[in-house]
Amino acid sequence: MTDSPTGTRLTSTDVAPERQLASLADDVSAGLLAPPRWLSPKYFYDDHGSALFEAICATPEYYPSRSEAGLLAAHGREIIEAAAPEHMLELGSGSSRKTRHLLDACDALNRPCRYWPFDVSAQMMLDAGAQLVADYDWLSVHALIGDYTGGLANVPLPDQGRRLIVFLGGTLGNFEPADALAMLEQIAALMRDDDRLLLGVDRVKDTATLEAAYDDAEGVTADFNRNVLRVLNRELDGDFPVQDYSHRAVFDRDMARIEMRLAADHAHRVTLAALDTTIDIEAGEEIVTEFSHKFTPDTLAALLETAGLTIDRHFEAEGGAYSLVLAGKANP
Ligand code: SAH
Ligand code: AVI
Repeated sequence: MTDSPTGTRLTSTDVAPERQLASLADDVSAGLLAPPRWLSPKYFYDDHGSALFEAICATPEYYPSRSEAGLLAAHGREIIEAAAPEHMLELGSGSSRKTRHLLDACDALNRPCRYWPFDVSAQMMLDAGAQLVADYDWLSVHALIGDYTGGLANVPLPDQGRRLIVFLGGTLGNFEPADALAMLEQIAALMRDDDRLLLGVDRVKDTATLEAAYDDAEGVTADFNRNVLRVLNRELDGDFPVQDYSHRAVFDRDMARIEMRLAADHAHRVTLAALDTTIDIEAGEEIVTEFSHKFTPDTLAALLETAGLTIDRHFEAEGGAYSLVLAGKANP
């Protein structure tokens, strides 16, 4: 880990993975060279992709972000009173926009805490951190730069002080089920008896609402999806014809997940010079770029229970569109 002061109340630290993580080149070799083709959604989030995600949140169709913001605004004080955190660790914090509701509650309750955002998108997190320390004069921000799939044991949280671990936006749903469980188990391992997890997940609902949320009329989500090809072109010296891929978002009710894919409009050969390889893609062939799992109250409760966590409070958006749960360790 390296520490670099970026202001008196804003510091940043690189979090080393506990185990060796696959590189982009490894992941492309494993997932993209032969059908069925797939890529990890973490590669969406270069600076441009992070900005596109923020733009998705502002589209009329993408309700999860607004639903969650509404729940945080309505219940932020109750959450802070119940969790009484001295340290707030947020996984996949992005712009920290919605976290402000929690910080506002800390402010109103005169309960200052230290904020530890953890994200792979360093610039977005540092820009957000600089704005947060400017806006909250009591706040210190310790930005953690890294890939949380590398584990949480190297997160440099002090031993003392109650923790609230925050995982918002439905990002847990972007993991495959076994990986979501492993992630929750890692979170549970980090928690002590008085610590709490605040988790936001999207809910199963009608197909039209779900598919529209991932295929907005303005095409922002389509651009976000195609951005992963721009990342590959830049990082691996590739020549994917980015605009010749069509965005698809399909809800699979059996798997309870949206699947985002990119479909080639025509047959072509892609060169990835950095890997010294070519890929022949047929017309209509698809690359799976993201799963976004949706939950029911039962599937959510069962997942948390299996991970050794128990729900203290469950806040639901109108009509059960979205869930925010506050959970603690089971049988502490
Ligand atoms: N929590 C915010 C942002 C959600 S977007 C919200 O609810 O609006 C998902 C965030 O997770 C992005 O900021 C992305 O950079 C981050 N992220 C995705 N995969 C990650 C990984 N493996 N490690 C760390 N951060 C990751
Ligand atoms: C970050 N994550 C929870 C978003 C989601 O809804 O699965 C990413 C996203 N993909 C397309 N739109 C938003």
